[in-house]
Amino acid sequence: MTQDELKRQVAEAALKYVKDVPIIGVGTGSTVNHFIDFLADIKQDFEGAVSSSRMSTERMQKIGIRVFDLNEVGDIEVYVDGADEVTPHKAMLKGGGGALTREKIVAAASKKFICIVDETKTVDVLGKFPLPVEVIPMSRSYVAREMVKLGGQPVLRMTKEGVPFISDNHCEILDVHNLNILDPIALEKTINNIPGVITCGLFAMRGADVVLIGAGDKVITR
Ligand code: A5P
Repeated sequence: MTQDELKRQVAEAALKYVKDVPIIGVGTGSTVNHFIDFLADIKQDFEGAVSSSRMSTERMQKIGIRVFDLNEVGDIEVYVDGADEVTPHKAMLKGGGGALTREKIVAAASKKFICIVDETKTVDVLGKFPLPVEVIPMSRSYVAREMVKLGGQPVLRMTKEGVPFISDNHCEILDVHNLNILDPIALEKTINNIPGVITCGLFAMRGADVVLIGAGDKVITR
């Protein structure tokens, strides 16, 4: 199977976790895009979704899924999202798609986090994938210097057009390379405490509850 087929396989496996869930929390990314496409087939069975990005909102609205503002709903029963890396302890590194802050908010407001990944995303130690850190633009250089002190090499995320990537929250993203993240909870707290940081892409304080791994011949459940 190709990586995209593995993503589709694991996205389909997540459907059983949203049975009888009235409002579904929906993440962002290519794996979640498959999940949204599967939701189209069962859209009459639930009221709608809370979205973690403009991209997912547009995709859901296009196929007729109602998207609620998080402020309109109470706690969400289930949140389904991908990850760039996930450990056996269910800590994740996320934000490759730039939606980390809204993903973290919707995840925090959800009772259950179902992480859907293909088998290439499982790691023992987080950090091979550069860690996204969303920052208020005026703090960019200061935060970058703080990242260097932590042993990382920050790179400002740019678009294909050669201008800084701007998030849904009108902020910029530093991708921090070469961090060897042995204690993801401690590092998440440290980075999130730096003035100017909106949030970092470590999802360790609130990790996943269930990790589904698309492995071709089967879907592994952790
Ligand atoms: C989006 O900001 C990310 O957190 C995604 O969840 C993560 O990058 C996984 O993306 P793919 O499903 O596209 O690999």
